[in-house]
Amino acid sequence: MNIITDPIELQRTCLQWRAQGLTIGLVPTMGFLHAGHMSLMATLRPECDRLITTVFLNPTQFGENEDLSNYPHDFDGDCVKAKAQGTDLLFAPSPDAMYADDHATWIDVPDLGKNLCGASRTGHFRGVCTVVTKLFQLTQATKAVFGQKDWQQLAIIKRMIRDLNMPVEILSHPIVREDDGLALSSRNAYLTEEERAAAPAIRKGLLKLAAMIKDGERDAASAKAALKDEYASTLPMGSSDYIEIVDPDSIELVETIDKPVLAAVAIRVGKARLIDNILIEV
Ligand code: PAJ
Repeated sequence: MNIITDPIELQRTCLQWRAQGLTIGLVPTMGFLHAGHMSLMATLRPECDRLITTVFLNPTQFGENEDLSNYPHDFDGDCVKAKAQGTDLLFAPSPDAMYADDHATWIDVPDLGKNLCGASRTGHFRGVCTVVTKLFQLTQATKAVFGQKDWQQLAIIKRMIRDLNMPVEILSHPIVREDDGLALSSRNAYLTEEERAAAPAIRKGLLKLAAMIKDGERDAASAKAALKDEYASTLPMGSSDYIEIVDPDSIELVETIDKPVLAAVAIRVGKARLIDNILIEV
């Protein structure tokens, strides 16, 4: 596995690969890789001639009071894991290499970013869209894969690609979970033992909500209130950033549940802000 830190060297390498007729798969990550990231690589590996994993803690998608400076990292471990999944090239640039001091160009999809994480993390998706576009330009990727854990991110990236005619095909991967249902996340590392033991209640509450909707609940406000109550009793140490029911494509809030919906939550447990979601067919 080749490791590259210079964006221009990466682009030169990838342009050569494309000129040779090779297809390129891209797995963008912020590092501290876990089995969720590894399953994205495993999904894309058979779909491309060259597999690129990127490890870049993108500063522009973090707000001022967020966890940029504490975000967990283990670069050597990331290299072992990326290599084990068949990554050919690992790109790990510095922030300075990715952003000039006078960087001035941004990509934003405001309509899809106004609810959920876009509402509680101002500017977050502008940073995501900008860095993902830069990674597409640098890698010349023919396919890229994103996880459904960040459902809103996936919806926004798909829309950006369609709207701007970017020549890259997006694959998505279901949420990879621990045996007890907790969605894998680099941020789970922030949890104390007690918080970790309580955190599976996030998923259990979402499953209960899905059952309630399947049993006929059609009023989104009642369903959300029931989930809030559920968390108050099963996860008293958590506090919700949001508990929402939205259209899975437009990420618009839903009032009456009469078509498939996405229930999505962001819950603060100790130092961690954990997100999870479930697609509910009706
Ligand atoms: P990061 O949080 O490192 O996630 C990288 C990719 O892994 C994303 O597509 C995310 O949805 C996916 N992922 C994370 N946990 C997962 C899980 N438990 N199951 C399935 N997929 C999972 O998302 C980002 O980084 C950044 O915003 C990025 C796209 C790299 C841009 O900076």
